[in-house]
Amino acid sequence: MEILIRSTPDDVAAQAADILAGYAQRGATLGLATGSTPLLTYRELIRRHANEGLSFAYCRAFLLDEYVGLPAAHPQSYAATIRREFTSHVDIPDAQVHSPRGDAPDPLAAALSYEALLAATTVDVQLLGIGGNGHIGFNEPSSSLSSLTRLKTLHPRTIEDNARFFGDEELVPTHVLTQGLGTISRASHLLLLATGESKADAVAAMAEGPLSAQCPASILQLHRHATVVLDEAAAARLRNAEYYRYADTHKPANQDY
Ligand code: PGA
Repeated sequence: MEILIRSTPDDVAAQAADILAGYAQRGATLGLATGSTPLLTYRELIRRHANEGLSFAYCRAFLLDEYVGLPAAHPQSYAATIRREFTSHVDIPDAQVHSPRGDAPDPLAAALSYEALLAATTVDVQLLGIGGNGHIGFNEPSSSLSSLTRLKTLHPRTIEDNARFFGDEELVPTHVLTQGLGTISRASHLLLLATGESKADAVAAMAEGPLSAQCPASILQLHRHATVVLDEAAAARLRNAEYYRYADTHKPANQDY
């Protein structure tokens, strides 16, 4: 796991955009995430699209997860959110943006069909946030480390965290479809971003704690190509932060992130 510590959330976004732009230029398959953390990165990619000609026209995109019971047109569905925050502002054709069908009459069948779609592709880079409880996607603590796309019950902390988007905790759906930890692990490159003090404990558990279903993000420890980009606040509880900074400034020649 490569851990890059940057000063501010804007610096995290610039670093993440540098990495993602390299993939976009190659017409790669992108795994996208919703939530607040990647918003600055999306803004920076949109800016590069508008000002520097960065194109996503040949990319395909796959979302991590979706609320069960929200129609795709609901403003808080992740299908609507990713379009509003990112994809509708760049040149990726809408039909190339995929997500689980949270409003399908049979959510279990929708999970299986999304897993089948992902099994037939290679996600070149998967963007990830991390929950305050260590979740990635909606793989809450106790998720099987080899889980596939499935129906999950949200953790009360996640419902509380996401109430800000719905205005009221009561309105947050209780169930989701999420790529599993096994599904996410198949991506060739995992790129996890975390900013802010509220993520510091989860980041320390992910990077320096044991590999454990209690911290689903700890599966990054098993991945061959995982890059973690943190601001100072999110990095505050890492024991080996000085080593990560040193390794970042003494990279072997010709090694990209
Ligand atoms: P956030 O969520 O980016 O809104 O903090 C991250 C997550 O829960 O995965």
